[in-house]
Amino acid sequence: MSTSPLHAVAHLLDTSARICVLTGAGVSAESGVATFRDPDGLWARFSPYELASMDGFLANPERVRDWYNYRRAIINGVEPNAGHAALAGIEKLLGENFTLVTQNVDRLHQRAGSVRVLEVHGNIHENRCNDCLGVRSDDELTCPSCSGSMRPNVVWFGEDLPEEVFAAAEEAARTCDVMLVIGTSADVWPAAGLPYTAKLAGAQIVEINPNATSLTPHVHHVLNGTSAVILPQILEAMT
Ligand code: OAD
Repeated sequence: MSTSPLHAVAHLLDTSARICVLTGAGVSAESGVATFRDPDGLWARFSPYELASMDGFLANPERVRDWYNYRRAIINGVEPNAGHAALAGIEKLLGENFTLVTQNVDRLHQRAGSVRVLEVHGNIHENRCNDCLGVRSDDELTCPSCSGSMRPNVVWFGEDLPEEVFAAAEEAARTCDVMLVIGTSADVWPAAGLPYTAKLAGAQIVEINPNATSLTPHVHHVLNGTSAVILPQILEAMT
């Protein structure tokens, strides 16, 4: 009897003890949030150097803050999609044996009901102080504790990822039996290294993406399609 690639992946998930998921901007595309590197993505229209680096912020903090406020308004106006919901559903089945690592800063996974979420690139809804690193959810421009400059609580190019969060993501990658890599170009390191960490430790790697990526030749299973279509089908096929 032959099974479809999708059913083979559902069976793999059913028979695996620990599952780790790595998501990227593609997971939110069907909610109406632009990705970064697709032809209509943010980095085709905006400069990452001006808007996602400390040099860009220091050169023009107002321009950077305005751009993050523009993105916040878009994110606040959309809803999680069926892909986010399916990942929350898979977590319900597996409990603490399921870890979701996301590069997304939009909080749509949490809004869909995901609980164990490791945000390795921070989140766009908060600001943090450049000097004392205090995190706040208001829109103060100056830190009330130390008078430092407040900036979006996201990781910019050239910056380190939040240490404890990324250590937990690496641990999840090292100890999982299956890693699903969904909606990411897998081009931005060190997050892009997580599937290789998992594979080296013996995990099966599944990529879900409508397009090939630099990771594609290294994975065990490819499900070619969008996350809001494929993920509900996987959840449905799981027992
Ligand atoms: P990219 O924009 O680099 O990649 C998006 C990926 O999603 C591509 O591989 C697309 O083929 C795929 N995609 C598009 N639509 C999809 C859909 N409906 N379903 C599934 N996949 C789809 O985004 P990331 O890999 O997330 O950094 O980018 C990584 C980091 O680069 C981001 O976290 C961001 C950016 O600079 C920060 O914000 C710090």
